Amino acid sequence: MTAIDAGATGALRVAPSILAADFGELARAVQSVDGETDWLHVDVMDGHFVPNVSLGPAVVASLRRYSAKFFDCHLMMSEPGRFLEAFATAGADGCTVHVEVGDTAKLIRHARDLGLRVGLAVNPDTPASEVAPFLNDVDLVLLMTVFPGFGGQRFMVEVMEKVVEVRREVDRRGLSLDIEVDGGIDPETAPQAVRAGANVLVAGSAIFAHDDPLVAARKLRESAARVLR
Ligand code: DX5
Ligand code: ZN
Repeated sequence: MTAIDAGATGALRVAPSILAADFGELARAVQSVDGETDWLHVDVMDGHFVPNVSLGPAVVASLRRYSAKFFDCHLMMSEPGRFLEAFATAGADGCTVHVEVGDTAKLIRHARDLGLRVGLAVNPDTPASEVAPFLNDVDLVLLMTVFPGFGGQRFMVEVMEKVVEVRREVDRRGLSLDIEVDGGIDPETAPQAVRAGANVLVAGSAIFAHDDPLVAARKLRESAARVLR
């Protein structure tokens, strides 16, 4: 399967998290925000790395038939290496693994060999120094702005210091990579994240819990784009 292009690295992107959508009509939910979003953020939870279970490769394969978006799969799993190939085959375009699970260099190589775009995620209490050794080898760093496991949590503003730190290091090394934030992102918090240096905004509840998800996605993008003007 040919991967879908992620678009220009570093550009502002809105990535709705399907975790907040109605799983009974996922395809419709995904299509409803198509016009105002860039990537599709797919939250995979294994009930071990995080205290919740969500979805797996079969759902990715089904959704692939309804969306031509870049599938940004966030693997909240203790053993992502066992599933990378299944996600790639199912139609994932990018897979992000957590640095906390270890074996990072090997996982990055494995994902690359499968033709995936590669991301590295860090929990709110994991320091930037943990991702620093891998910055040259990944396409994206995901800085969690909540502890992963559930949607609808409060944005942790204290993570912005880490966003600034990672952005500064990325620029210092002259790297081109995406900095993504995930958790509690809405039109109030998105500008703070963009100001700190993030360019990919994941939003679940702010989009899908809204009466009109398409309007909500547009508002989110507008709030973030104002910072860049
Ligand atoms: C948290 C997930 C997030 C989550 C975001 O474990 O990784 O992607 O769905 O949801 P909101 O935007 O509701 O905080
Ligand atoms: Zn996520």
